[in-house]
Amino acid sequence: MNRFAKLGLAAALALGLAAATGARAADEPNNDGHGLTPSRQSWSFAGPFGAFDQAQVQRGFQVFREVCAVCHSARNLSFRNLSQEGGPEFTEGQVKALAAEYQIKDGPNDAGEMFERQGRPADRFPWNYPNAEAAKATLGALPPDLSVMAKARSYSRGFPMFLLDAVIQYQEHGVDYVYALLNGYSNPKDLNHNDYFPGGKIAMAKPLTDGQVDYTDGSPKTVQQYSKDVSSFLMWMAEPKLEERKHTGFKVMAFLILFAGLLYLTKKKIWADAH
Ligand code: HEC
Repeated sequence: MNRFAKLGLAAALALGLAAATGARAADEPNNDGHGLTPSRQSWSFAGPFGAFDQAQVQRGFQVFREVCAVCHSARNLSFRNLSQEGGPEFTEGQVKALAAEYQIKDGPNDAGEMFERQGRPADRFPWNYPNAEAAKATLGALPPDLSVMAKARSYSRGFPMFLLDAVIQYQEHGVDYVYALLNGYSNPKDLNHNDYFPGGKIAMAKPLTDGQVDYTDGSPKTVQQYSKDVSSFLMWMAEPKLEERKHTGFKVMAFLILFAGLLYLTKKKIWADAH
């Protein structure tokens, strides 16, 4: 074997070794204190043709509103967003009725006083707490705002899988994590133990239990289903224009392919007599 062949072989072996050690199976514990690696879920909004499952994000909103919003804020969400295209798409009437169920702080009025009034579609979704300190004092830790949570968290799959994720444009790490987190309370005796939370101890006690949210469309009332639905809803909140972006991307690609074909035909025609 000559020197170059040997070098090549060594490099190939090193790469293979790195690949073998780097590719961790999902849900395997890693010992760097980051919690388990979430496993991948199949999401309707993944891939180049992905779109939100409207019934699912509607249910997800129900879970968010009845459970998560007791503690968490969603500063970027206005009621009217809930009727916009590409999301839960509630009717404008439904959104008006929903907003009216909330009391919104407004003001000051002519007398310089703040006052409460019925919510309107243009209002932002209100937070249950007046400020972060109040939430911290009650809950022991600050519940992070959920507006962009589905994109703010991620997990590493190590080399070489993270390269593959970049190539296939896998963008669902965040929702995989939220789903895993909500299902990660594995110790019934310790409701603050979570397998997927860094360090394993989370200030958010297990927020979901079977049967807690009353679905009216016949979907299973299980923690798994709630988590899947609310994670999808969080993904929509984090990227309300996801469908539009994917449609545009597809149109651009289709155009480029068509354009390349036309260019090729033009080239053939122009050079047809040149031989
Ligand atoms: C009783 C209050 C409460 C409820 C209800 C609640 N949370 Fe939390 N949540 C918290 C607190 C407090 C934290 C901060 C935990 C910490 O830092 O240890 C948190 C943290 C989180 C995190 C961030 C974890 C991380 O990686 O930092 C996510 C995601 C989350 N909650 C999602 C949800 C969802 C989705 C729901 C509804 C199904 C929900 N929470 C319901 C209080 C709550």
